[in-house]
Amino acid sequence: KLQKLETLFNRISRGETPVNVKMYLVATAQDKNVRRLYEKLKRKGETLSSTFKASLGLELRKAFEEEVLEAITHGLLGESKPITVLESNLGFLTPIGYVKRPKISGEGIFIGEDIDYGTLVFYDFEKYLTKHMVIVGPTGRGKTTLLYTIAKRVIEQYDVPIWVLDLRGEFIGLSKTIGVSVVDPEKTPVNLMLPWFTSPRLRARQLVDLIKALTDLEPTEEYVLYMSILKSYERTQHPNLETLIGIIKEEKSSNPELELKFYTLLTKIEQLNSKVFLGSNYNNVFSIVKKPVIFALYKLPEEYRKIYALAILQVLTNYMLTLTPTNKLRHLVLIDEAWRLTDTKSGSKIVRSLVKEGRGYGLAVALASQDITDFPKDVLDNAGTIIVFGSNSKDYIEAVAKYMKLNEGEKERMTWLKTGEALIRITGDPRPIWVKIIPENMETRNIITKVENR
Ligand SMILES: Nc1ncnc2c1ncn2[C@@H]1O[C@H](COP(=O)(O)OP(=O)(O)O)[C@@H](O)[C@H]1O
Ligand SMILES: [Mg+2]
Repeated sequence: KLQKLETLFNRISRGETPVNVKMYLVATAQDKNVRRLYEKLKRKGETLSSTFKASLGLELRKAFEEEVLEAITHGLLGESKPITVLESNLGFLTPIGYVKRPKISGEGIFIGEDIDYGTLVFYDFEKYLTKHMVIVGPTGRGKTTLLYTIAKRVIEQYDVPIWVLDLRGEFIGLSKTIGVSVVDPEKTPVNLMLPWFTSPRLRARQLVDLIKALTDLEPTEEYVLYMSILKSYERTQHPNLETLIGIIKEEKSSNPELELKFYTLLTKIEQLNSKVFLGSNYNNVFSIVKKPVIFALYKLPEEYRKIYALAILQVLTNYMLTLTPTNKLRHLVLIDEAWRLTDTKSGSKIVRSLVKEGRGYGLAVALASQDITDFPKDVLDNAGTIIVFGSNSKDYIEAVAKYMKLNEGEKERMTWLKTGEALIRITGDPRPIWVKIIPENMETRNIITKVENR
C-alpha cells in the first residue's frame, strides 16, 4: 500500500533531488466527546510521526490551515486517491531496517576497536553503499591513515576497483599491494579531453566546468570554449590542448569583432598544463576503470593537481552511468583533502555530481577534509557515515556538534580524543560509536607531511 512512497524514497536515496513533494497524512478517529476525540487524534498523530521518523527518517509536522484546505480540495476531494493504511500495517513501513540496529561488527572491513566496549568494529561498504562516507578531522589526527587503511583492506577483501586520488604522495605505499596500478600523470597520463564514456557534447560541457574550477570564464568565453572543444572532437580522434588552442586561434581570426574575448580566453587556456590534456602515450581509461588505481597527482605541479583530480572524478561519474543500477559494491573512490577540490563552485559541483549520480550504480565515495564546512551542504546532508576525529578547537566542535546533534557530554568528549580516535555515526543509528582506529602500516609512504597554511 505504501509502494508509491517507497518508490519516491528509493529514487531520492538513489540521488534524485525532489523538486517539491507534499504528502498529507490524515489520521481518523471517532468519538462523541470532542475532548476525547482530540486526545485520540493527537495520540495517533504522535504515533504516525514517530513511525515515519523511525522507519524512513521523515519528519512530519502539523498541517497549516491553508494546507488542510489544499489537501481537501486537491487531494481528498480531487483527482488523487488517498491510500488507506490501518494502524496494524504501519509495521511494514520499513524500507530500510532502522528498527534493527545496523550491524557494525562482524561483516565488512575491520576498522578498529570500540573504546567503550572493547568490541571490534567493522564497516560494511555494501550495507551503507547508498550513502557516502565523510571523514572530518584537523591535520595530524589520522584522516589519511584511516583512508589508507580502508583502501588496503578493501583491496584485499573485495574484488572491486578502488581509485585513490593521491594529492600528496601518501598513498603510494598501496602500490605494493598486488593488482594495484599507479597512474603517473607525467609518464602515462590520461587524456582527459576525450569524451570518455559520454557524448562529445556532454564532455565539452564538463570540460568547461573543469576549466572554470581553475580560472573564471565569462559567458562569451565559456561559449567559445565549448564550441571550440566540439570542433576539436570533429577535427581529430585524439584532440589535445594544442588542438584546442589551434582551433581557438582560427576562430579568433574569423571573428575579429570578438578579438579581445578570444585573446583573454587564449591566455587562460594556454596557461593550462598540457600534461593534463596530453594526446600521445595516454592511458586507456577503458582498461583502468576496472582496476585499483593510485593516481599519483602529487607529481604534477601543485596548481594542476586539482583539475586532474576533478577530471578523473568526471570520467568516473560518466563511467558509472554507463552501467546498470545495482546495490552491490562496484567501485570505491577515496578523496583525501577534499577541500582542495570543493573550494570553487565548479569543483564542488563535480564532487556533488559524483556522489549523487554514482550512488545507484554501486559507487562508494569516501571523502576526508579538515572542517565539516569544507563539504558541500548536500554532500553532508546525504552522508550515510560520518567519522569525526577530535580537536580542542571550539569552533570545530560546535560545527561538528550541530551536524551530528551531539549533546554537551559528547562535545566535551570530542576534545579529549587522541590521534586515531574518532566518533562514528551511521545513518539510522542513534548511537554514536567512539572508535580507536587500528591502522595498517604505511611504512613506504613518503614523509612529506608538512603543516599547511590554509
Ligand atoms: N589510528 C592511529 N593509530 C596510531 N597512530 C595514528 C593513527 N592514525 C594516525 N596516526 C599517526 O598520526 C600521524 C598523523 O596521521 P595522518 O593520517 O597523516 O593525519 P591527517 O591525515 O589527519 O593529517 C601519523 O604519524 C600517523 O602515523
Ligand atoms: Mg592527511
